[in-house]
Amino acid sequence: MLPPPRARVRAECGKDATNAMETAAKDTIDRALAALAESFPARFEAAETEQALRDENAKILGKKGELTAILKELGKAPPEARKAIGESVNRLKRDVEARFEARLAAIAKRLRDADLSARPFDLTLPPRIPVGRGHKHPINAVREDVIEIFRGLGFAVHDGPDVELEENNFGKLGFPPDHPATDMQDSFWTTGGHLLRTHTSNIQVRAMSLQKPPMAFIAPGSVFRRDDDATHSPMFHQLEAFLVDERVSMAHLRGVLAEFAARMYGPGTPVRLRPSYFPFVEPGAEVDIGCVFCKRADGTRAGCSLCKHTGWIEILGCGMIHPVVFEACGIDPERWTGFALGMGLERIAMLRYGIPNIKLYFENDPRFLAQF
Ligand code: DAH
Repeated sequence: MLPPPRARVRAECGKDATNAMETAAKDTIDRALAALAESFPARFEAAETEQALRDENAKILGKKGELTAILKELGKAPPEARKAIGESVNRLKRDVEARFEARLAAIAKRLRDADLSARPFDLTLPPRIPVGRGHKHPINAVREDVIEIFRGLGFAVHDGPDVELEENNFGKLGFPPDHPATDMQDSFWTTGGHLLRTHTSNIQVRAMSLQKPPMAFIAPGSVFRRDDDATHSPMFHQLEAFLVDERVSMAHLRGVLAEFAARMYGPGTPVRLRPSYFPFVEPGAEVDIGCVFCKRADGTRAGCSLCKHTGWIEILGCGMIHPVVFEACGIDPERWTGFALGMGLERIAMLRYGIPNIKLYFENDPRFLAQF
């Protein structure tokens, strides 16, 4: 049964009123969405920093953001319109997100461009924390000094490999295969008759096999032996010097030695030769200089533990190049003569700087190195 006419009118009115409210709510949402869609791009553009941009984004998409607030109104819109409104909200949300990412990238790029085009910082400014300058290792410093001395005397510098043929290291230098010296030098053998060279005398063979006399060379380089204690290291440095010409004599050798001692350890440094044996020289000698540690002002020596109270200190081996070496290298020993000498650079530096232990050279302790 129908309600009485008045009541029906009221009910119809109520429905109309609800419809009107829902429509009004939909309009409000539509306007709010349109306003947001219109305004957010400019708001993002206005954000100059990443933080400002993120804040602006949160104002729109955050839990208490504008779009979230609009979404909360969805329930008030007419049921049949809600799907379309929901889709509009989602579309706007995606637009906001896309704009946000694009603007974020633009801000990052602007920062980077500014960084790249900015004037580079001044590399010539002094550091706030002082940085010590590096310097030469004592072995390098001494090697350069020795090279300079011999170059001044007319010697050229010859290079050669660390891995050497047995015949260049031993055979052609007059060591017979079973010679105790080959044993004594107890070498690092690799393969196929190769070894790490035990001395720089191999350069005599290389130079004399390559070119004809006259010649005067020095050859600095690393050498290797199975030795390891306070005065021996398995790798150390030598410098070889040799000169080949007609009528070269011991006197030339002595002259070069005296000049070397004077330039390296001071004018007037006394030099003496003691007969010794090396297979590749005849006669052979060991060279001593007046002890640099106990030298008195008047030039005499007091004697000390380093020179074992003799006043003399050994610095190198030398001699007149043996005819068998010339022959092994295809040089006529009747016409050519020459001298050779070989020194250990660790020892030369030890005497120059008073370094007591060979290990100090290789530990590279900055407190040691900083003293040179
Ligand atoms: N090669 C020798 C060594 O390693 C040093 C040497 C001695 C070199 C006498 C020479 C020389 O040129 O004549 O102990």
